[in-house]
Amino acid sequence: MTEKFIPVIDLRHRDSVPAIPSMLEQPTGLLADALARPLHDLRISVTDRCNFRCVYCMPKEVFDKNYAFLPHEALLSFEEITRIAKIFVAHGVQKIRLTGGEPLLRKHIEKLIAMLSELRTPDGRELDLTLTTNGSLLARKAQALKDAGLKRVTVSLDSLDDAIFRRMNDVDFPVSQVLHGIEVAHKVGLGPIKINMVVKAGLNDREIVPMARHFKGSPFILRFIEYMDVGASNGWKMDEVVPSAEVVRRISTEMPLAEAEPNYSGETAERWRYLDGSGEIGVISSVTQAFCHECTRARLSTEGKLYTCLFATSGHDLRALLRSGRSDEELATAVAHLWRARSDRYSETRTAQTAELRKLQKIEMSYIGG
Ligand code: GTP
Ligand code: 5AD
Ligand code: SF4
Ligand code: SF4
Repeated sequence: MTEKFIPVIDLRHRDSVPAIPSMLEQPTGLLADALARPLHDLRISVTDRCNFRCVYCMPKEVFDKNYAFLPHEALLSFEEITRIAKIFVAHGVQKIRLTGGEPLLRKHIEKLIAMLSELRTPDGRELDLTLTTNGSLLARKAQALKDAGLKRVTVSLDSLDDAIFRRMNDVDFPVSQVLHGIEVAHKVGLGPIKINMVVKAGLNDREIVPMARHFKGSPFILRFIEYMDVGASNGWKMDEVVPSAEVVRRISTEMPLAEAEPNYSGETAERWRYLDGSGEIGVISSVTQAFCHECTRARLSTEGKLYTCLFATSGHDLRALLRSGRSDEELATAVAHLWRARSDRYSETRTAQTAELRKLQKIEMSYIGG
């Protein structure tokens, strides 16, 4: 058998230390970027490791035993994460999502959740504190997560068919354990639980209708995600994307759907409701109908670099500022300047040509988080 060779440039070291303007400022909670987009969401990656090797995210050929995951001392401590999160909340962040890799692999993650759950928005509200997980450790950890103050979870699940699921996670993990994890999370009250399915043509697209059928009428909200050209290692091709319109068409043929209003402005998913009243699905069309014009998301990597876009080619090293003894006011000023300068809108400008050009120039999703 010939081995697949995937060329990858390690972009994790491409970063700069943010400048601190001499005129310091207090956060107002009302930051807007160069395209008038507010800062509402902070996605924090707490580990770059994962116990799965999903073929579209961490292909085994790249993420093998020789892959250099981050060393322990590079990771932000829980105190450092909380300090940065507090500054972002003062700037207007209302939702924090913990991601990975697989966030439940980070030791004592419930301690971090307890610390973050103490944060309040400038007008005194609790945060929407959530986490994206592959579900493998959920049954074991759900109660501790809930007790620590986590509000809800989103679980990645690409197929109900055990053989396809094992092929996609590529570590032979059985689907039954993830389904059990979802049930336990529901029982302890970590809802509303969303189920995210990345659809890759020829791999799991025949699972679209069975997944819809399975979750129809359940308390879980199933969302179909267009396979994206994130990172450099997954060998993305446009013809492997199943457009959301096609997903809706296939489901609607058997179970009629009607479009529903968004829950909030900037929602990634477009909602569709079953006409018979048995719930809804969502479609996330990052490729065919990009939503950059409403993108309010900032991403913090495991080692404390700030990325203002999922497709960014370099990050802003906030950890360097933290560890050089800068004050909260200095950090807040640096973040404000970064956000105001932000003009990212990669998905809206993506063409076959730009995707090709950027192919080797993107940070991996397992590093900055979904
Ligand atoms: P809710 O808070 O539950 O509404 O979640 P969300 O809409 O923020 O979605 P979630 O975090 O579950 O993200 C689902 C998927 O949407 C991700 O795994 C990505 O594939 C995609 N996605 C999320 N945010 C972005 C983004 O900023 N840009 C792009 N291009 N895709 C994104
Ligand atoms: N395209 C779309 N979504 C992806 N994810 C990872 N890689 C991709 C990709 N190439 C998302 C999935 C998964 C989460 C952890 O990251 O939603 O559930
Ligand atoms: Fe792990 Fe999620 Fe990536 Fe799969 S998609 S390899 S579960 S981080
Ligand atoms: Fe936001 Fe970048 Fe995604 Fe566009 S491509 S929605 S700017 S993260």
